[in-house]
Amino acid sequence: MKGDLTEGFQRGTVSFARRDDRLRPRLQRTWDAHHEMWVLDVPRVQASMSVAPGYLLDAGRDFGRVAPLVVEIGSGTGDAVIQGAQARPGTNFLAVEVYRPGLAATVAKIVRHDLSNVRLVQADAVQVLRHMLGRGSAAEIWVFFADPWHKNRHHKRRLVNSGFADLAASRLAQGGTLRLATDWADYARQMRDVLAACGSLTNPHGSDLTPCGPAESTVADMQSGFAPRFEGRVMTRFEHKALEVGRTVYDLELRRA
Ligand SMILES: C[S@@+](CC[C@H](N)C(=O)[O-])C[C@H]1O[C@@H](n2cnc3c(N)ncnc32)[C@H](O)[C@@H]1O
Repeated sequence: MKGDLTEGFQRGTVSFARRDDRLRPRLQRTWDAHHEMWVLDVPRVQASMSVAPGYLLDAGRDFGRVAPLVVEIGSGTGDAVIQGAQARPGTNFLAVEVYRPGLAATVAKIVRHDLSNVRLVQADAVQVLRHMLGRGSAAEIWVFFADPWHKNRHHKRRLVNSGFADLAASRLAQGGTLRLATDWADYARQMRDVLAACGSLTNPHGSDLTPCGPAESTVADMQSGFAPRFEGRVMTRFEHKALEVGRTVYDLELRRA
């Protein structure tokens, strides 16, 4: 697995880094016992994080029921998706993550909380959006604390760009919501601006300033377009760390027009 994370994506640029995929013994046991139940067995082409074109999520087959769908991209260890699934039992949640230890931690939480409305997929989110999700199939898409790739030469690896905006918008149902959060001001600005340029998304917070964190870290340009903190967004390790070192956290909320 480790060797071919990026291999095959037409030598293209992906937003994730190669990381150690090994599991600690306890997580390995959880994974072995439960992953087949919760992690979708996705057909691949070329690379281990790909999704074969033509493979479409089927709510009846994959969740055992048809219900509104929330997709979390880069779900990490699953804190947000688990909280969402607990709070909204009538909604299906799909967690998309490339990092197996994160997926295993999420599986452990599904089992601990006895949830039935979460499924996981280990794949590149762009591939999942492009091939697995039908047009207009998601009620919400969440992207919380996407890797910032903060060096200039790495900006091209950022997940949220204009191509992503169009793709995500096309997978949202009419009136569906795209929610994002980041603690990197320049990535927040990039997200806000590429999403504003996407013709099929509207920003209901065009002139609000409601980032949470110290006011002195905001600048004039950062005074519009951001949303209040999404109350369904649980405080994760990433947000804790960001607030501890005095960074501002920016939320964005866009609607499919
Ligand atoms: C900084 S972490 C944030 C995790 C989580 N959202 C949180 O707030 O705690 C970003 C996560 O996105 C995942 N990721 C990055 N690019 C991805 C992609 N293209 N597809 C799926 N997951 C991706 C990484 O593996 C990582 O776990």
